[in-house]
Amino acid sequence: MSQETEAFINHLIAQMTPEEKIGQLNQYSADPELAPDLLRQGKVGSLFNASGALTGHGFSDSGNAEISNHFQKIALESRLKIPLILGRDVIHGFRTVFPIPLAQAAAFNPELASEAASVTAREATANGIKWTFAPMLDIARDPRWGRVAEGNGEDPFLGAQMAAAVVKGFQGDRFSAPDKLVACAKHYVGYGAAEGGRDYENGEISEPTLRDVYLPPFRAAIQAGAGTVMSAFIDLNGIPATADRRLLTEVLRGEWGFEGFVVSDWESIKELIAHGVAEDEAHAGLLALKAGLDMDMVSGVYHNTLGESLRQGKISPEILDEAVRRILRIKHRAGLFEHPFTDTTRISRDILTPEARALARTAARQSMVLLKNNHNLLPLQGFRRILIAGNFIHARGELFGTWTPDGRSEDVTPLDEALRHTTPKGVELWFADSPDLAQNLTHYVDAVVLLIGEHPARSGENCNVSDLSLPPGQAEFVEAVAGLGKPLTVVIFAGRPLAITRQISQADAVLYGWHPGIEGAAALGELLFGTESPSGRLPITFPRATGQVPIYYNRKNSGRPIRNEGLFRTRYLDLPPVPLFPFGFGLGYTQFEYANLKLSHETLRGTLEVSAEVTNTGARPGVEVPQLYVRDLVGSLTRPVRELKGFQRVLLQPGETQRVRFTLQEADLAFTRSDGTFGVEPGGFHVWIAPDSQRGLQGEFRL
Ligand code: GLC
Repeated sequence: MSQETEAFINHLIAQMTPEEKIGQLNQYSADPELAPDLLRQGKVGSLFNASGALTGHGFSDSGNAEISNHFQKIALESRLKIPLILGRDVIHGFRTVFPIPLAQAAAFNPELASEAASVTAREATANGIKWTFAPMLDIARDPRWGRVAEGNGEDPFLGAQMAAAVVKGFQGDRFSAPDKLVACAKHYVGYGAAEGGRDYENGEISEPTLRDVYLPPFRAAIQAGAGTVMSAFIDLNGIPATADRRLLTEVLRGEWGFEGFVVSDWESIKELIAHGVAEDEAHAGLLALKAGLDMDMVSGVYHNTLGESLRQGKISPEILDEAVRRILRIKHRAGLFEHPFTDTTRISRDILTPEARALARTAARQSMVLLKNNHNLLPLQGFRRILIAGNFIHARGELFGTWTPDGRSEDVTPLDEALRHTTPKGVELWFADSPDLAQNLTHYVDAVVLLIGEHPARSGENCNVSDLSLPPGQAEFVEAVAGLGKPLTVVIFAGRPLAITRQISQADAVLYGWHPGIEGAAALGELLFGTESPSGRLPITFPRATGQVPIYYNRKNSGRPIRNEGLFRTRYLDLPPVPLFPFGFGLGYTQFEYANLKLSHETLRGTLEVSAEVTNTGARPGVEVPQLYVRDLVGSLTRPVRELKGFQRVLLQPGETQRVRFTLQEADLAFTRSDGTFGVEPGGFHVWIAPDSQRGLQGEFRL
């Protein structure tokens, strides 16, 4: 904490009335009902979804600069002129919409995600936004949950790498810079463990799993300097996260030294009543504030009750001052006291630049995962007439994915048009947007490409599904054209893993496009016709069927493991005991071989280098993503059968061999042990350098 900032804050707090202090703890979603007088009286600390409805600018979708400046101007008429911090859900892009975060995780390229976040920050701040409610860092093991789209998948190591990169991209070295945002690590914590994959359900997570699986991405975000944290809706182990003092204060601040502030998720303070831990709003407000929850998003509980609770001595002035201090600290660090207004000329030069579009195309290209490619059907070459069919052939905004309020369909080249631009000369494209037409035309073409999947309206918050099959009307396309003797490529756009076992068997090639963002169509064309090659790897396991969920790679072995001989082993009678596709899996347009695993020592003391040769044995250049996994063979608690501890993206020319190297340190092997302490235990370890979480070259070492 800088002395200058702390002195400024303490001086300001000393002048504030209790009402003004409580005012800083309130955040409202700016809507027509919001009375400007609340701002003038200093009773609002933050606004989000600032809309033109309040300023006569019309119902603009985004909080553009004039609107933000309008609210800021009113707020600065207050007695102490404390600026607002204007927030918004700027999750994976603003006008330049990048692939959904789950897709960006599939690129296994944190640096690229950081660049995307930096572009996003530049566009959002040009629109008067200073605080984004991102990155979403919830580990997800259940694709029925609609919000798997927003996170980085099932793995804590990948999640932590992405968390740090995206926070750095949003905030830069100092988020007072005019083109930088204050980040918000959300939803703290365990939201992805909601029972049944149903949003808002309760979750049960053991302390070791909480510490070693769900918390690491948040710790990485805090270590990267995230200015704020958002509490989760979830009732975790019987304590709603919004009122969990152990997590919000003892862990977040006591153990990790977090100095920023915590905002509740939408109305989650008031929801403490529905959860059944608060009698009424006053009680809910006391529980949340004492737990360490600083800002009340929308519920009004702090606004309505804290004054009386203070007067009754139910909260101490010190607790109130501490919450205010944290909020003022972030506002001061964000430069809002010196520069509360947005330069409205930036909108003309900082939005949707060609460089931003190019970056979005790169991100889309690197995120798509090739799941099958029999007979090297892809890239499509030598076909004179190709049928492009499916529900997505005219897709524009449908490519954005969830949480893209500022993306605009008109910014997107429709998929069919984009494909025309990327199709090689002499290739004729036909189009069909119904199964019947597709079936008829298949007889007259040389190859078929189906573009199907789930609409983004089915992805994201409160979009949970009980069945992971393709949505209605999609599988029919595959049934209509499969088996007609024409090479079939299926491209799937989705915000989650879908149970596509049947489609995988019917297609010759399958490319998973996720929701790829504003440049997804062009990126797809480059991959389909081979000007670029796919390099994505799965950040989340793909189940064979809904009933196989939860299924994830870093599982425990069981006393009767799936690889046991005989009948008595953990499995279903009606399914093979392995996923359709494992975490880390993905193909390219060339092949790679791994050889000559080497360990620098048999025993890890300090550091241990693990290396292997990777060779491109095919005829095209390609990017491989070697992954480093370990397994702790014996522990005071049971240990996962594999844990990701490193990955690299390696470009190899045809015939080229590179020795990829990873360095393991003792700290990489630490875990939450049976006595609750975090550390390592001596013993044997397996280690792999692998193309995915099921294969690879195996070695062993001791600690
Ligand atoms: C929503 C989401 C949260 C979002 C907030 C504001 O309910 O849970 O992720 O940031 O409300 O829109």
